[in-house]
Amino acid sequence: MAAKKRIGILISGRGSNMVSLIEAARLPDYPVEIACVVSNRPDAAGLDRARAEGIPAIAIDHKLFPSREAFEAELDAALRGAGVELVVCAGFMRKMTAGFVESWRDAMLNIHPSLLPSFKGLDTHARALAAGVKVAGCTVHVVRPELDSGPIVAQAAVPVLDGDTEESLAARVLAAEHRLYPHALKLFASGGAVISGERVEADQGLVNPADPLFWPPLD
Ligand code: GRF
Repeated sequence: MAAKKRIGILISGRGSNMVSLIEAARLPDYPVEIACVVSNRPDAAGLDRARAEGIPAIAIDHKLFPSREAFEAELDAALRGAGVELVVCAGFMRKMTAGFVESWRDAMLNIHPSLLPSFKGLDTHARALAAGVKVAGCTVHVVRPELDSGPIVAQAAVPVLDGDTEESLAARVLAAEHRLYPHALKLFASGGAVISGERVEADQGLVNPADPLFWPPLD
């Protein structure tokens, strides 16, 4: 197997997507090694969880920096210092400058809890319910400077049920996120996701439907 890609995971809170990636990375054939976890919020619960798993985890408190650029310079130094090749945003709730995003061009992924390009930004579930959509879901995409945009690596859909609340829909989507991100990251890190213009094409030779991480599942 090719050398594992070193990733840095960016979080801001609970870190449940981070945990799904940590669990996937324990599998021997998973093409990723988690070099570090960074949170912009010192109180993020995910930091303790990462440390408990033996992963270097640091807080870089954005409030301590005079500008977005100064914060990002510190973040960038931490990532590059840890030998990170691929940045994986998992509930990282901080807008990034175009300069920072471009410096990680085609080497930064994000997960968003909607079927992009619908419902970019915050309060996605409330807006999906208000719009009356019947299908919701989540998207893993390559990060581009414009918020919640960039080539789509993978998506998962879930139904919106009558009587759903923001909480019940969020929980259903989150369960899908936990399955989608390990799959999408595996595809991307193994070179199986080829960016062509603003689209991603999966290299079918690297997509194995028998893989337990394969999405969508065959059933
Ligand atoms: C997830 O729904 C993610 O898609 C969104 O924020 C939430 C983060 O949850 N951007 P967690 O911190 O991974 O538990």
